Amino acid sequence: MTTSEELTGVERDGHYAGETAGRLPPGRNPRHFGIDPGEPWPDDVPMDQDDTHWRFENDPKAAKRAENRIAVLFVLTLLSSAGLAWDYISNDGQTQVAAACFGVGLAALAVGLILMARDLMPGNEVTASRGHHHVSEDPDRVAVAESLARGIEPFARRAFLLKVLAPVGGAFSLALLFPIASLGPRPHRDLLQTKWGRFTRAVNQDGQPIRPNDLPVDGILTVFPEGYMDDALSPTLLINVGQAPFRIVKGNEGYNIGGIVAFSAICTHAACPAKLYNTQTHQLICPCHQSTFDVLDNAKPVFGPAPRSLPQLPLTVDAEGYIVSQSDYTQPVGPGFWNRG
Ligand code: FES
Repeated sequence: MTTSEELTGVERDGHYAGETAGRLPPGRNPRHFGIDPGEPWPDDVPMDQDDTHWRFENDPKAAKRAENRIAVLFVLTLLSSAGLAWDYISNDGQTQVAAACFGVGLAALAVGLILMARDLMPGNEVTASRGHHHVSEDPDRVAVAESLARGIEPFARRAFLLKVLAPVGGAFSLALLFPIASLGPRPHRDLLQTKWGRFTRAVNQDGQPIRPNDLPVDGILTVFPEGYMDDALSPTLLINVGQAPFRIVKGNEGYNIGGIVAFSAICTHAACPAKLYNTQTHQLICPCHQSTFDVLDNAKPVFGPAPRSLPQLPLTVDAEGYIVSQSDYTQPVGPGFWNRG
């Protein structure tokens, strides 16, 4: 049985056809190139290829300088990682500092790895014949292992770089976790809730509570939950549709006070205030992209990009006759992740 040792080197095995013999570099294993014993040299494999040499093999001083260059770049990555961590721990994640540290660290690591591959590894392209076998034979596998060993050898000789690379990569990966802090607190249910609640008074922009008689037929008024005039999700439109036929959807029974209905003022498309009210058609129009909502049909969108109706706020009157909400909105207001389909 033929062993890989026996196959290494043309001079020793002598199995190759005339034109191949003597042209393969001494000490090379022809099986690296997918050539079987007795076969002529394949057309698709260069005769002079050599995968054993690396850039500074014969220049130890240049190799040392290359090693030092790479080490400096890795240390720079390490310092950038520390800078990124420091920025988040003591500087509250100052964006420009974080970006600079991240950019410098990533660039230094990338350049270091590129130089490592270019200067300290065999750099020749190696071409192997496609051969005639679908499954590699044992000698081929041995040859691949030898080739890999030659690639690893320069690193083994430079243990310092190998030792530095792991902590540098680890530190940089760890530092990349800090920007997660920039995402801010979790929203929890904040996006699903407004400041309206059980018996929250509706007040106008001057903070005055509203009685049903304050709103004439076809009147429209923006109101806020008392004490939360600045809450972005809470602005609500009170509209008096009078005797117009308002369609009450299932589940929204008892939400109105006579002809007075209340809908979120925040467009379900992109959160513009949808406050333009056409008293002839009973339609609310959003000025941003012209979404149009039919108030009598529960503020259902009838035109434009808004994907769903404006949520309705359940109303009632408190003991003093002021308009209050029965509860919060039963649907999320505005646009958001709940806009599906
Ligand atoms: S935000 Fe209202 S239509 Fe786009």
